[in-house]
Order: sequence, then structure tokens, then C-alpha cells
Amino acid sequence: MPTSPATTGIPVVLTGQALQSLRESGYSLPAALGEVIDNSLEANANAIRIRLDEGTNARGKKHVHRIIFADDGDGMAAEILQHYPQIGFSTRYMRTDTIGKFGVGAKLAALNFGTRLDVWSRTTANEPWLHVHFDLAEALEAEKRGEEIRLVPPQPSDVPQDFQDLLAEDAGTIVVWSNVDRLEHGMRADNFDKLRLEVEKELSRIFRVFINDGIAISVNGKELLPHDPLMLMTGTWAEKVLTDYYTTGEGVNAPWKPDPLEFAADVILHEEVKIGDSSAWLTVTLYPRSVVRKRGLGRDKLALNLRIPENLGAISFMRHDREISYTNVPRIFATAVQDPDRFIGVTVSFSPELDEYFGVRNVKRGAEPHDQLREKIRKLLEGAIPEARKRLDSYWGDAQRQAKEHAGEHGPILEAVAEANRTMPKARAEGDPEPERVLEDLATDVLGTSASAEERETYIGRVRDLPFVVESVDFPGKQFIDVRHVNGKVIIELNTRHRFYREMWAPLRSIADSEPGARHSSESVHTARRTIEALTLLLISYGKAESMHENPNEQYGELRDYWGMFLDSMMSKVKDVL
Ligand SMILES: Nc1ncnc2c1ncn2[C@@H]1O[C@H](COP(=O)(O)OP(=O)(O)O)[C@@H](O)[C@H]1O
Ligand SMILES: [Mg+2]
Repeated sequence: MPTSPATTGIPVVLTGQALQSLRESGYSLPAALGEVIDNSLEANANAIRIRLDEGTNARGKKHVHRIIFADDGDGMAAEILQHYPQIGFSTRYMRTDTIGKFGVGAKLAALNFGTRLDVWSRTTANEPWLHVHFDLAEALEAEKRGEEIRLVPPQPSDVPQDFQDLLAEDAGTIVVWSNVDRLEHGMRADNFDKLRLEVEKELSRIFRVFINDGIAISVNGKELLPHDPLMLMTGTWAEKVLTDYYTTGEGVNAPWKPDPLEFAADVILHEEVKIGDSSAWLTVTLYPRSVVRKRGLGRDKLALNLRIPENLGAISFMRHDREISYTNVPRIFATAVQDPDRFIGVTVSFSPELDEYFGVRNVKRGAEPHDQLREKIRKLLEGAIPEARKRLDSYWGDAQRQAKEHAGEHGPILEAVAEANRTMPKARAEGDPEPERVLEDLATDVLGTSASAEERETYIGRVRDLPFVVESVDFPGKQFIDVRHVNGKVIIELNTRHRFYREMWAPLRSIADSEPGARHSSESVHTARRTIEALTLLLISYGKAESMHENPNEQYGELRDYWGMFLDSMMSKVKDVL
């Protein structure tokens, strides 16, 4: 019998070289780790430990050189363990009630980052650990020699000392990826800590339902808290961040501090999407007041900690309670995504029998709803997103009013002026002999007589250190302003009964507080004209008041000089605080 390739044929796959090519499957590190976690979950593991080991490579660069996964799941009997590294092998091939089904995840993910795979497993406590391995370099060598690449049967073998602390007491599996060559510092992340944080962040979101239900997943000894982009779960990462912020952090006295400390989002929509006999669920939430706070805080420290910016326009696709995608989906929002949308949570949950509709791929990354399904989701979002935006606007409107009551009408300017005053000439006025009395009187003028002792104290505490205090208060008589000097501080009360306040100040203020476009332009123009009239009349009335003195230049000359100089200086330093 001739044995030339012409008659016996040739292997359809060049194993070693094909595997080398398959290294570029495009896995992110968290997604790759996710494949191994999936397998542990499906083997009924309750605790999954991951360890990233750092080292220095041949070129002297720091890198993660090895990744270890340990679970306390069912383990694998020898027949199955031998197949572990085999591409295409699955004990749940193409099933629709499992997470895995393609039989490629565990291998492609490992090869994406390293070139060697070791697995130890046992199915009961009193069996020895069995070991298999696959080494790409060995395989390529064998292929070069013309040998067929084969997986030898598992052998009893002790788990190396280095991993002993990760081992389960009974059944379980340890997977080790080594010769990791794709995680040099600067490649996927600047340094080890950033890489680890990224991994923690992603895994805590991808596996949030499992973690929330009590499965323990840890990364380098740190147990993950679930991260829910809908902000409906409790005991989450966000809850911890918010609790810290409102109990010991910057939010201790914030007006949007929730009482009790509960941080659940509002559900805007929770609706079934029918596809044949199956259904998916679309959920839309708006983050709570304690998170949205006031306009303009979408990127501050708290927002970054809560992972708010990355939620902008993102939809979380949950397949079988495991997230497979969290990104923007083209053409699914009826209108362009807007900045405040980062406070809106959107998830679509479905079961694996709908995989084809959701465009699920073998690498379990990304979802691309097919046309008809996309249309249905789009229709529902068309109602829900504007509803969420509207509610957010009303939250922010409330917050603005609240903040004003709290800080006084002139608060923002007074803070800016205090800063500007630091470098200006110091007051020479002797000041009121009873400064505390003046402050008490001011508190009564501003808060009324019914305010509690605590409210008065808070108010006085706030204005005590300000060099200038301006308050709009109601007092009888024709006086427009009342000025008092205490301890180098200037207190100006503006009479809200005065025509200047009623016809110029108040209408201007209300236009300034409204949304651009919310006011009729004729109203704005009318107010602007009245303002110019009022400012001109202010000057004329001042001149007229001067003229009541016999020698105005002597009496008021210095006042005019200082006034002009300070006005110029303040206007150059205080700008755009409203
Ligand atoms: N941690 C584990 N515990 C028990 N069995 C496992 C574990 N990891 C993998 N397996 C077995 O190896 C097979 C191959 O895994 P994988 O390549 O991820 O394919 P899939 O998950 O699609 O079945 C699984 O079907 C399962 O039988
Ligand atoms: Mg799998």
C-alpha cells in the first residue's frame, strides 16, 4: 500500500500552527478570565479564587507571568480531564440551558494570554489530584518533527506547593495559565495595580448576579462585591462607595444625603420583549438622587468611583444571568446619547435559546441584536429614555432650589468674592462694638423668628468667616441697602421691598435660574431694558443723593475712587460663578 499524501490524505488542521493563529481571538483579560469562571460556575463551584502573579521577563520588563484559578466545584473525572485542552470538546455541546456550549472558551482564552495550560482536578476528597497539560511550544516542536500532537491521559500528580493555599478541601479544579506573554506592563494597563483594578471592576459586573446570590469570587485575595449598572442590587460596590461618602466623606452634610442610607435606583421600565415563544426583558432605571445629586457632577471623584462615566449610553446584555456585553449599541437609542444619560441604567436579559437573535459569538463577547429585535428594543427605549431624562431634570431642579435655600441667594458670588478679597486692601472701619449681636440680628432677618437654634447656628457658622455678606431681606422703609461693619466684615442687606429689587433684581434672577430656551425672548428683552433703566437710575439717584451735601467732592471723592477701583478689581477676579 502506498502511503503518500495523495492517497491517504492529509490532516485538515495543522494543530500547532492553527493554535498559534488562534491566539489572536481578541479577548480582553477580564473576558478571558470570565471563560474559566464560567466553567467553575457550571461545575457548581461556590468559591472561585483567581491569582495574578507578577514577575520580570527576559527583557527586564514587569509583567503578569502566570494566572491561577481554583474552584471548589465538581471536578473532572480522568476521561473528561483529558479532553480539557481539546478544542471543540464540551460536555454541554450546543445546549441552550448552560453558559458554555461551544467547547472552545477555556482553551482560546488561555492561549490568548499564554502558551502553557496546566489543569489539576479531582471529583472527591479521597482521590489523588489528576493532572493534564498543554504546551504550545512543545506542540510546535512535535509538529516540526512530523509527529501528531496528542494529549496524554491524566496522571496523578501533587499540586505544586505554590498553589496549595488556593486548593479546595474536597473536589475541585485548578487551572494555571503560564508562560503568559501578553500582559507586560504598559500593554493592557500602565501597571499591575491598574490591571488588577480593571479585572476586579469588570468581573464584579459580569458576574454580579452570581456574586449577589452568594458565590464568592476573589482576585488576589480580595473578594468581589457585585457591581450593578442598574443600581437595583444591594450590598454592591456602589453601596459601599456611597455609604462611605455619606457617613464619613464629602457628602456628610449634602442636602441629597438619603435617610435611611438606601441607594436604590428608580425603575423607569421593566418590560417583556416577545420573540416567538421566548422572551427577553428590558429594564431601564434612573440612578437615585444620592447619585445624580446636582447638575454637573457626572465626572467628579464620586462619579468616577461609582463608574458613572462609562455607563453613558451603555447597555448591559445579560445572557443566562451572566453579562456578555456592556457597551453602546449603534442605532438603538431613538435620539443621540446625551451626557446626563450616564445616570440611566439599561439592561437586556435573555436566555441562551435566543442566542441567534442576539448575535452571540463563540467568544461570549458582544451582542448585536438582530434587526427585528433591535427595532422592538428601540421602540421601548424611545419612551423610557426621555421619561428618565425628564425625571432627572426635575431632580436637578429640586436640588438647585434646595441648594439655594441652604447657601442663600448670593452664596456662589460671596464665596468667590471672599477669595478675591484676600489680596485687596484691608478694611479700616472700626466696626460694631457688639459683633455677635449683629450676627444674631442678621440671622433673624434672614431666617425669620421661627428658625430653630440649630438652623441659626449653622447659618452664623457659614457667614462668620466671609468678608462680605449680602442678603436679600424684607425691611420696611425706603432704604435700598443697609450696610454694617463688624470685625472687618461688611454685611449688606438688600431690601426686597424696594422697587429696584422687585423690578430689576428679582426678574433678572429668575431668568438667570431658568434653562436656556425656557423663557420667551420678549420677556428676557423686556427685563434687560428695565435693567439698563434701573442701573442708570441707580447712578442718577446716587448723584442726586451726593448733591444733598454742601461739599460733595470733599465728602465723597475718596468713596468714588475706592468704589471704582474695587469694582474693577472684583470684576476682574470674579467671573462666571453663577
Ligand atoms: N472548572 C471545571 N470544573 C469541571 N469541569 C470543567 C471545568 N472547566 C472545564 N470543564 C469541562 O471542560 C469542558 C470544556 O470547557 P470549555 O472549553 O470552556 O467549553 P464549554 O464551556 O463551552 O463546554 C466543559 O464542557 C466541562 O465539561
Ligand atoms: Mg466554558
